[in-house]
Amino acid sequence: MSQDSRAPFVVAHRGASAARPEHTLAAYELALEEGADGVECDIRLTRDGHLVCVHDRTVDRTSSGTGLVSEMTLDELRELDFGVDGAPAAVLTLSELITLVLDWRSRPTKLFIETKHPVRYGALVENKLLAELQRFGIATPASADHSRAVVMSFAATAVWRIRRAAPLLPTVLLGESSRYLGGSAATTVGATAVGPSVKTLREHPDLVDKAAAAGRATYCWTVDDPDDVRLCADLGVGWVATNHPGRTKALLTAV
Ligand code: G3P
Ligand code: CA
Repeated sequence: MSQDSRAPFVVAHRGASAARPEHTLAAYELALEEGADGVECDIRLTRDGHLVCVHDRTVDRTSSGTGLVSEMTLDELRELDFGVDGAPAAVLTLSELITLVLDWRSRPTKLFIETKHPVRYGALVENKLLAELQRFGIATPASADHSRAVVMSFAATAVWRIRRAAPLLPTVLLGESSRYLGGSAATTVGATAVGPSVKTLREHPDLVDKAAAAGRATYCWTVDDPDDVRLCADLGVGWVATNHPGRTKALLTAV
């Protein structure tokens, strides 16, 4: 990711999740149709070792079932309905999402993958993720700018593990504290970008210049309010994650 004077790239947060059920194929297809430059997903590990795109620890909020993702097998998850308003949708695996993004031939979009996992898994999630990226041939990009995958985490350890195992992959250290993101943590773990919430950025707009001075881009989430989109453009944010990719693309084109 490079920081320059262009408008921020638009990342569809959990897909076009304001219009379609989050983390479903329908949400990601709509995001790509609406012109998103990238898509964001959260990944969790199932009991039988598959990476699936689910935000919460449980499936209660987003599916017809209940229970912890980590205690269910992929087959059990596949029996649940992740759709809304009578349109059924299946759980999406990371592998299925990568396939969709790489097969989207009209333009090269990026995949922003956020690891969500309990500490008890150790490096298992990162190792599985890297194996998956290797399987698709996207773990060793020619440069960060050309990478099709970006790995993100609130956990500094997760970013550090990815950096150590796959030094060419861009990474984002996510956080809500300006002191943390503006301090030495990103340098210590080798993150190529910092990821403040939009609330943090509103209160500490200097974070963007601080990051740029250290050679890092800024990825801001979750930027849905048009005023916040304009703020990010004015500040030189590199990437904005939004639940409204189409509307945000249109706004940025008009800026
Ligand atoms: O893109 C980063 C953002 O998604 C972090 O917050 O809770 O939506 O995963 P959350
Ligand atoms: Ca996320």
